[in-house]
Amino acid sequence: MGHLCRRRVPARGIAVDPQPLVPRRSKVENGAVAEFRRARPEDLEAAVAVWERARWDARQPHMVERMQYTHEGNLQHFRDVVMRDCEVWLAVEGDVVVGLLALGPRKVDQLHVDPGWQGRGVGTLLMDRAKALRPDGLTVFTFQGNQEARAFYESRGFRVVRLGMSPPPENEPDVEYAWEPGADPS
Ligand SMILES: CC(C)(COP(=O)(O)OP(=O)(O)OC[C@H]1O[C@@H](n2cnc3c(N)ncnc32)[C@H](O)[C@@H]1OP(=O)(O)O)[C@@H](O)C(=O)NCCC(=O)NCCS
Repeated sequence: MGHLCRRRVPARGIAVDPQPLVPRRSKVENGAVAEFRRARPEDLEAAVAVWERARWDARQPHMVERMQYTHEGNLQHFRDVVMRDCEVWLAVEGDVVVGLLALGPRKVDQLHVDPGWQGRGVGTLLMDRAKALRPDGLTVFTFQGNQEARAFYESRGFRVVRLGMSPPPENEPDVEYAWEPGADPS
């Protein structure tokens, strides 16, 4: 399995914060209102549906063919790895999950916004939430070819710290970014 913002090698027993946080409401750019709350076990199907629709590697036919992801495998991975190892937050509009954020101790492990909601501020609000929850700093990996995500991170204060390859079996050129407090563009 590959890593960040895609499938990922299971991490080493990261504690999940069990604290039930009060849902917050925030405005997105177009005036719509999204609710941000911790994911619950019953959110699995909806979260994975967003993950599958938004995941950037789904737009790379060669990778989809090579990795042979299946819906069942995605459900299993999200439940048994992502939800176990990360603090998972959802952006919800009405009853509909429109975006998700999975946070490790210092990493944005997953950040995905449903395609129909992209470009409307949901990703920015999820990233602001990540920075507030991890004020000492954050890292994130993405594929080098994911120009949209790279522009998103770079305009939100992340700087490149390493160019490399994602772990087997992905073996795709990737880039690691880091954000430090105070690095936000004015
Ligand atoms: C990258 C992503 C999380 C950004 O979320 P978003 O809700 O679209 O972002 P916002 O609306 O808050 O901000 C839009 C910004 O992201 C960029 N962007 C990235 N993808 C975009 C898209 N599909 N549509 C519009 N803007 C996009 C824009 O350049 C814009 O930058 P600017 O505000 O500096 O001009 C989201 O587009 C997404 O889920 N992409 C597919 C999955 C992915 O690549 N995730 C990251 C993997 S590491």
